[in-house]
Amino acid sequence: MKGIILAGGFGTRLFPITKVVSKQLLPIYDKPMIYYPLSVLMMANIREILVISTPKDISNYKILLGDGSHLGISLNYKIQDQPRGLADAFIVGESFIADSDVSLILGDNVFCGEQLNKILNGISIENNALIFAYPVSNPSDFGVVAFDSANNVHSIEEKPMYPMSNYAVPGLYFYNNKVVKIAKDIEASARGELEITDINRIYLDQKKLKVKLLNNEVKWFDTGSCGGLIEASNYIHNYQKDNGKYVGCIEEVAYDKGYINDYDLIALADKLKSTDYGKYLLSLLSRDIG
Ligand code: G1P
Repeated sequence: MKGIILAGGFGTRLFPITKVVSKQLLPIYDKPMIYYPLSVLMMANIREILVISTPKDISNYKILLGDGSHLGISLNYKIQDQPRGLADAFIVGESFIADSDVSLILGDNVFCGEQLNKILNGISIENNALIFAYPVSNPSDFGVVAFDSANNVHSIEEKPMYPMSNYAVPGLYFYNNKVVKIAKDIEASARGELEITDINRIYLDQKKLKVKLLNNEVKWFDTGSCGGLIEASNYIHNYQKDNGKYVGCIEEVAYDKGYINDYDLIALADKLKSTDYGKYLLSLLSRDIG
C-alpha cells in the first residue's frame, strides 16, 4: 500500500493567513499541520508516500520533510498545477501509484486518540475501498455516509442539503489499484471538481465500499477553517498535556515502527534540543528502558 497526502489548494477559506503560507504548513499547536496526516499514513504501515502540492508551495514541503530517509520512509513530491478536486490526486499520482493499492489523506485532516494506532495498524482492504464514518452535528458540510448496523453502506453524498445520516466521511480513504482508472473516468461535478464522493459511489455501486465507524476514542478535525484550526490546536495542546503523549509526532511513529534506531532518534532530537519537542523525542529512549 502506498499513500498520498493532498496538500494543494489556494487556501482561500483561510485568507489572509494563507495568502503567503500554504495551509498545510500552518501550525496545529506545536507542529506543522502536515505532520498529523503524515503520521496517520505511517501508523497504517505505509512507507512510500507522495506529497501533492501547488507549484508555489511544493519546495517548502521538500525543505520541511526531505526525502523521508531520516524517518525510514520514502517521500516523493508532485505538483498539482490547478486544484481540480480530491479525486485528481490519483491522476496526478498515477505513475507513483503504479500497480499498488493506495491511501489518500487530506493534508488538513487531523486525527487524535488512543485507539488510532491500533485501528490504522490493522487496516486491510482486501480488494475493496474503505472509508470512515464520524458523527457530526453539521453533516451538510461534508461527504455523508448512511449505513446500517451491519456496516452495509446505503448511500454516500457530497455535502447534501438533506443528509441521510449524521455521519461525515473524514478525509482518509483506502482503495485498491482500480481507483486510478475510476478517477480518470469520472466527470467534474457542478462545482467543477473531480469529487472523491463520486469515486466512493462507484465502489458502492459495485458493492465494494466498506465503512468503519470511528468510535468515541478517536477525535477528528477538518482544519480548513479558522475555527477548526484553533479547535484542533487547543485539543492537541490539552491532549498532550493530559496524556504525556504527542500526537502527529512523525519521529515517534518511525521509532515505534522500528524504522529508526536510538542513535537516529538522538540525532533528530539534537536538532530540536532547545524545544519541548526535542526533549520529548529524547524521553522516548528512557521510556523503552524503564
Ligand atoms: C472534502 C470532501 C468531503 C469530506 C471532507 C473531509 O471536503 O469533499 O467529502 O467529508 O473533505 O475533510 P472539503 O473540505 O474539500 O470541502
